Amino acid sequence: MELLQQKILNEGTVLSDHVLKVDAFLNHQIDPQLMVEVGKEFARRFENDHITKVLTLESSGIAPSMMAALDLGVPVIFARKRKSLTLVNDLLTASVYSFTKKETNEISVSQKFLEPTDNVLIIDDFLANGQAALGLASIVELAGAKTAGIGIVIEKSFQNGGKLLRDNGFKVESLARIQSLEGGKVTFLEEVGVGR
Ligand code: G4P
Repeated sequence: MELLQQKILNEGTVLSDHVLKVDAFLNHQIDPQLMVEVGKEFARRFENDHITKVLTLESSGIAPSMMAALDLGVPVIFARKRKSLTLVNDLLTASVYSFTKKETNEISVSQKFLEPTDNVLIIDDFLANGQAALGLASIVELAGAKTAGIGIVIEKSFQNGGKLLRDNGFKVESLARIQSLEGGKVTFLEEVGVGR
């Protein structure tokens, strides 16, 4: 997605060979207009997948998920990482280990919002090692529902998450795929098809 790539090049900061800072438009300050376009692009890529719910993980997954869900005309659910005062009963949970942050989060979703008939689109801001997406997919499975696809705003293709998810048979659509952050420079993975 050309607009997103430009945004990454113009406003992203390479912090190391593995970490890209995008707090100017995605992880802290959020660019609503960009999110509208991101949502449209996800909706386009999954328009034939009969999506009934979008599922994400708080907090940075919420903005792109909202816009995609709006375009697809379905609700969005965000899994919580922290215990909620009101979210106490009938929880579907998964343990997600972050290699980046070296911590494990228990993520949870209320059972009442996922039905066995649901066809779920999982969306997240970053794909690194794929653990968050796998955790969300296991929650979908616990509900007896189906993961129809996984939408990622920024995939770091040099880490193993993309391969892991695709090898597991998931349809993964990433709006920007980064091949390398080496030398402080963002290099995108060239894809067949303009605008990807
Ligand atoms: P994984 O789910 O693909 O295995 O990724 P990982 O555990 O490595 O990532 C954990 C957190 O770190 C996630 O945020 C993810 O978005 C973020 N992250 C991973 N790589 C990068 C990167 O290069 N740049 C930035 N900016 N973030 C990265 P989170 O803990 O869920 O935080 P948030 O959603 O509350 O912002």
